[in-house]
Amino acid sequence: MQASANIDYMTDNPNLENAYALRSPDEMKTLYENWADHYDISFGQDQGYQTPREVAVAFAAAGGGGPVLDVGAGTGLVAAHLHAQGITDIDALDLSDEMLRVAGEKGLYRDLIAADVTQPLPHAKRYAGIVSAGTFTLGHVGPEGVVALMDAAAQNALFVISVNALHYESAGFADMITRLGTQITALSFKDVRIYDDRADEAHRNDIARLLIFRKT
Ligand SMILES: C[S@@+](CC[C@H](N)C(=O)[O-])C[C@H]1O[C@@H](n2cnc3c(N)ncnc32)[C@H](O)[C@@H]1O
Repeated sequence: MQASANIDYMTDNPNLENAYALRSPDEMKTLYENWADHYDISFGQDQGYQTPREVAVAFAAAGGGGPVLDVGAGTGLVAAHLHAQGITDIDALDLSDEMLRVAGEKGLYRDLIAADVTQPLPHAKRYAGIVSAGTFTLGHVGPEGVVALMDAAAQNALFVISVNALHYESAGFADMITRLGTQITALSFKDVRIYDDRADEAHRNDIARLLIFRKT
């Protein structure tokens, strides 16, 4: 009993179910602190997590280029795929110092920014591209994060943001798009599978909706 007294089974046991059930920034930080060192293997590889590749490929296909802000960059999976597309001028933004540490060790980013995307961003930079995979999902960030990012984008900046399809319906992303109105242009959507067939059965066919648009 003594040994388990301080264990929080949700945040100390990082997995998809617990990640989807997060309720606060503190829980978020604790879960990802415990996940950072094995995230690429236990989640990225073992679950066949493919949203980072889908986001990078969609960004390149739509004519995207740097400098790019990778929002909720985590361990840098999106940046690895952007590099494969020839796009290398990338900053990482994430709430978790530990996820950023792992990302930094890969040498894929120009700058590592520890920040909450729902708050005013610490740097007054203007990016030509904004990408995000796996961050606008259940238990994570809602549509207010996309609105906050408009200030970090240069005129004509290309956004490719993945939103978990369940979260899209329940969290009000459609209303957010309507509210942005003429602030955005060239809007399109692409639905992609988040995981391949290696994923647990419960999530094997989960869908992410890629929001693809430019800032007017
Ligand atoms: C599922 S991971 C995705 C990481 C990476 N983009 C990928 O696809 O592998 C979600 C990331 O979002 C970050 N995150 C969650 N809420 C955030 C917030 N409000 N501001 C910035 N980052 C946040 C977490 O720390 C975590 O690294």
